[in-house]
Amino acid sequence: MTMPTLRRFLTSQAQPALDPNLIFLLEDVAAACRVIARHIRDAAFEGNRGAMDSTNVQGEVQKKLDVIADREFARICSNSPRLAALVSEEVEEVTWLKDPEEGDYLLYYDPLDGSSNIDVNLTVGSIFSICQVDRDGNREVLIPGNRQICSGYAAYGPTTMLVLSTGQGVHGFTSERGTGDFRLTHPEMTIPAETSEFAINASRFRLWDEPVRRYVTEVRAGKEGPRKRDFNMRWTASMVADVHRILVRGGIFIYPADTDNRHDGGKLRLLYEANPMAFLIEQAGGAALDGHARLLDLQPERPHQRVPVILGSKDEVERLRDYHAAG
Ligand code: AHG
Ligand code: MN
Ligand code: MN
Repeated sequence: MTMPTLRRFLTSQAQPALDPNLIFLLEDVAAACRVIARHIRDAAFEGNRGAMDSTNVQGEVQKKLDVIADREFARICSNSPRLAALVSEEVEEVTWLKDPEEGDYLLYYDPLDGSSNIDVNLTVGSIFSICQVDRDGNREVLIPGNRQICSGYAAYGPTTMLVLSTGQGVHGFTSERGTGDFRLTHPEMTIPAETSEFAINASRFRLWDEPVRRYVTEVRAGKEGPRKRDFNMRWTASMVADVHRILVRGGIFIYPADTDNRHDGGKLRLLYEANPMAFLIEQAGGAALDGHARLLDLQPERPHQRVPVILGSKDEVERLRDYHAAG
């Protein structure tokens, strides 16, 4: 069985062919993810477990590895010849590396996702999204997700995987022991329309709006309830791990607005969590909404804007959209 490397896949299998400068950037992202995987593996030996004294732009306590992962993304990807700007979860301001006329790409990233899982040795990840710079030369990063040209994530689990889409389906690569090369192990990942598995932080039930309560109450009722079948629940508290599971075997992921997070717009960030995952989910045949609208059609207003997220198997996502429409 041939398992092409990421480079071979990007240079020979993409149709139409990808811009070589985009391939360089993707190789830099892959290199950053390999280095981050190494930092995570060695954190206990290098004094890198636990929290920093600082909080990030979101007012959240930063883990040491949040800061290290952010630094590695910036260090490695800044060398990319046509990369114009970086938007990171961990950095308040947009980092412009060059004038827009001298670059082609914008890179958005969550350097370490699910970082509360680090100290309990569960799967964490990195999420990234790439857009093209404004052709009029404006320093603009507030671009709707439907204009992403690539997105993906690395999952640091029992194996390190890189899953990405350049708009031609979703493909998963596993880092090979020894060389570290990412090789194509999961070509053409697709999500079944139907599922019996849901992912939500159920401890927040009391905070939800009626449509989400109704949905979860119905699936929890199982065979005896209106859905007439049993559902299974999983919640990893690491969006990468939950989305990866959905890309492998289907499911629905829900992080709704609730009475606790509504004043912030939700919990997850639009530009470097919701949009890249929505792009992958749609490319794999699923759907991704904020409850009412397609996530990819939202016009971002701020780099660190938050948004409610419902994504995964189409039938379940659309059912929840109908419950929202019904009020
Ligand atoms: P991050 O570690 O980048 O701040 O992201 C954590 C996110 C996401 O990965 C996960 O789905 C969610 O927060 C977990 O939220 P709860 O703490 O409510 O479970
Ligand atoms: Mn995150
Ligand atoms: Mn993060």
